[in-house]
Amino acid sequence: MQVRVNDIGMGYDDFGSGDAVVFLHAFPLNRRMWEPQIDRLKGRFRVVAPDLRGFGETEAPPGPYSMEMMARDVLGLLDHLGIASAALVGLSMGGYVALAFCRMYPERVSKLILADTKATPDTQEAKAARDDMVRRIQNSGVEVLVDAMLPRLLTQKTIQSAPQTVARVTDMIKSTPPSGAVGALLGMRDRADSTDVLRGLGCSLLCICGAEDVVTPPSVAEEMASTAPNGRVHIIPEAGHLANIEQPDAFNSALMEFLSG
Ligand code: MLT
Repeated sequence: MQVRVNDIGMGYDDFGSGDAVVFLHAFPLNRRMWEPQIDRLKGRFRVVAPDLRGFGETEAPPGPYSMEMMARDVLGLLDHLGIASAALVGLSMGGYVALAFCRMYPERVSKLILADTKATPDTQEAKAARDDMVRRIQNSGVEVLVDAMLPRLLTQKTIQSAPQTVARVTDMIKSTPPSGAVGALLGMRDRADSTDVLRGLGCSLLCICGAEDVVTPPSVAEEMASTAPNGRVHIIPEAGHLANIEQPDAFNSALMEFLSG
């Protein structure tokens, strides 16, 4: 489905009924990464998954896209759908956007699930790596992201033994317009520290993390859970950064238990 939100046309899914659960995807993917979760949850909840600004079927105007800008887009979608409050599930970049959303619109969040993400901002080294990646995309296209990111997103085992998963993730990366990838990289580079958001979080928090996540390892999830007043952590064995895709059953069980509790 498509809606006009702020200055862009936004693609999204909206299935099922009941309490709303909103899924915010990782970089440089799109809402299709949530298919295993949407299929499992839509019989029990209203599941909403937007393509964030710059990705999937959402327009990709010139960036930078701040995390706050993407959070405002999500708010626009919730307003359009008449959703007063929702559980937010954000993985990696989606987690950065979820934390910005919690800072700006805390009354709209009933529960927070942060998967394979972090609350801290980019280090100087990480900022320099973003600038380098922006230049490489501008020179050679988004294909450069495939080799740069696949080994960081998926475990070696998945890369060697699950060609369909690799193909799905590769397709999503390649479908991202260069302006979208660059806009998000610049926004992530300059994102704020959200540790204070965690400290003051008024709702319960579940941090999910793949045991083999090399981008945001389990120690980061544990730290986030202990920073929030009401946080807990769930580590998924045999999963890397895209824990929801590599181990969908384990990810879904953790999600269902937390959302139903
Ligand atoms: C993601 O998976 O969304 C990215 O790895 C986040 C990042 O680059 O910081």
